Amino acid sequence: MHITDHHHTHIESILDRHGRASHRLLQVLHDVQDRFGWLPPETLTAVAQGLGLPRVAVESTAGFYSFLYTQPVGAYRVLFSDNITDRLLGAPALLQRLCERLWLQPGKVSPDGLASVDTTSCTGLCDQGPALLVNGRAMPRVTPERIDAMAGLIRQRVPVADWPEDWFAIDNRIHRRDAMLNHVWRPGEGLLAARERGARGVLHEVEQSGLRGRGGAGYSTGFKWRACAEASGALRVIVCNADEGEPGTFKDRVLLTTAFDLVVDGMCVAALAVGASLGFIYLRAEYRYLLPRLQARLAERRDQGLLGEGCLGPGQSFDIDIHLGAGAYICGEESALIESLEGKPGKPRIRPPFPVTHGFLGQPTTVNNVETLATAALVALHGGDWLRSIGTELSSGTKLLSISGDVARPGIYEYPFGTPLVEVLHAAGAADVQAVTTAGAAGPCLSASELHRRIAFEDVATGGSIMVFDHSRDLFELAHHVAHFFAHESCGFCTPCRVGTAVNARLLDKLAAHRGSPYDLEEMDRMHRLMQGASHCGLGNTATLALQDLVHKFRPAFERRLASTTYEPAFDLDANLSEARRMTGRDDAHAHLGSNRSAGLGQTP
Ligand SMILES: Cc1cc2nc3c(=O)[nH]c(=O)nc-3n(C[C@H](O)[C@H](O)[C@H](O)COP(=O)(O)O)c2cc1C
Ligand code: SF4
Repeated sequence: MHITDHHHTHIESILDRHGRASHRLLQVLHDVQDRFGWLPPETLTAVAQGLGLPRVAVESTAGFYSFLYTQPVGAYRVLFSDNITDRLLGAPALLQRLCERLWLQPGKVSPDGLASVDTTSCTGLCDQGPALLVNGRAMPRVTPERIDAMAGLIRQRVPVADWPEDWFAIDNRIHRRDAMLNHVWRPGEGLLAARERGARGVLHEVEQSGLRGRGGAGYSTGFKWRACAEASGALRVIVCNADEGEPGTFKDRVLLTTAFDLVVDGMCVAALAVGASLGFIYLRAEYRYLLPRLQARLAERRDQGLLGEGCLGPGQSFDIDIHLGAGAYICGEESALIESLEGKPGKPRIRPPFPVTHGFLGQPTTVNNVETLATAALVALHGGDWLRSIGTELSSGTKLLSISGDVARPGIYEYPFGTPLVEVLHAAGAADVQAVTTAGAAGPCLSASELHRRIAFEDVATGGSIMVFDHSRDLFELAHHVAHFFAHESCGFCTPCRVGTAVNARLLDKLAAHRGSPYDLEEMDRMHRLMQGASHCGLGNTATLALQDLVHKFRPAFERRLASTTYEPAFDLDANLSEARRMTGRDDAHAHLGSNRSAGLGQTP
């Protein structure tokens, strides 16, 4: 594509809109792509010059994110959500059907440049799948009839904006409300209560409340806020983590849709407590459809004095910018998220130093999950003892659960911590339960005999993603899916995770083709031991948790896949590992095989 003067004018105005700040790179690339449909090489050069960055820095950001395209894409880009729950609901057959109707191959752009059809990781619509994104717009509840109608509209080149509006209607299926969702919220209520308490008072109440992060790790919010408040820096920053990439979770989407003011109040409360003046909402690209609504509400709050100039008190300003992600699960990890906020590829940082002292642009930064912030707003209003009176001693308050899979009523359920899983599943209409994943792809998988366990950090710790599988499901398929998910989402920065996730995926491919042996299952155990602790970030440390539970608790599903005949693989995994161990004298030989070996693995069946 030749960039004309006219195109240059567009790029210049995009750069101006972003103040030509190099940390705005990812947002600039989004806008350039919106204008050109993809990112032609000349646009990357123009952006690099405009932001004063080396071209290679722009290229590496553009190349990192799944939703940035450095090759031409179809005028209609259809991405089917590839969570296991979408698969259970028939997504693969729907994808095939659309490809047949449009005469194209999955993953390839049609020769006339009209369309491309592919998959993407979970789109956060598991309670109303199968879902897809078409030119970035989320469409739930896709049916074969809808696919045929879509193919017709694409062939007639009808703009997506003119497609039936009800195809894009997204429900907020809230089936159970408790302390948070029952609260009738007046915008600014938490902020005004926090102003009355003052920064010290708010910090005290949050510490008193025992509030723990709802993003998965359960870290003490009061501890994090105090560390940030006490760190030295010219600027302090509050980040709302709305990346919500864990397969099976969608509660943050529902909070942003139905209780956005509560979340913004929570950010303001955090800002007052730590002394921050700048805030970001890191919104996953899959939720882009929410962006205009959220931006409009932020503007209204500025007009109402609930955001911006003086909103925290005389002379104390705090404002929020929404930063759009671009399709990378790893960007939910807080240090990768901060890298992404700075316009870089989302690779986790080496810690220490931690974000609370050296975060966004090296300044003290607090990153909290959407639900944590909403809960903090309630703490500012009702006080710490109020939250402590709900839940258990080590897990105060309530938890929002996103429930999907084999249940009669998928959706959002709010329960006090300490509630037995069986009660939650009963309410959702689960019957004949075989297995339940309690932290998406990145956590344990419980069997039916464990459902008496309680939702709490001290028992079943969960970010809220609960996926249910009944006895009709082949749990090998779940393991196969999880292994490929992590192999795809590993950022590749460290060897144990890059190689370990690839090895697991290939081992399960082998088993799927009935070419595996019991040794392959043992090899998965070794990968687990290798990746635990040796991985640089939480992705590598959690990537084998569900796999381990599946292999050990649901063994028959794997044994059914073992080879019945002797098989000679094209790439002899076992021989290569033995050789590597002999050479390194170590059992963690994978770590030393590095990327060359992962290239070789591509040849295994
Ligand atoms: C691979 C990976 C993905 C993550 N994704 C998210 C996410 O989507 N949302 C989130 O709030 N936390 C996510 N986290 C946890 C964050 O790193 C961080 O702990 C969290 O945002 C802190 O907020 P909290 O203390 O309020 O839970 C992720 C962690 C890892 C390792
Ligand atoms: S553990 Fe995985 S995701 Fe995390 S830094 Fe290493 S390669 Fe990247």
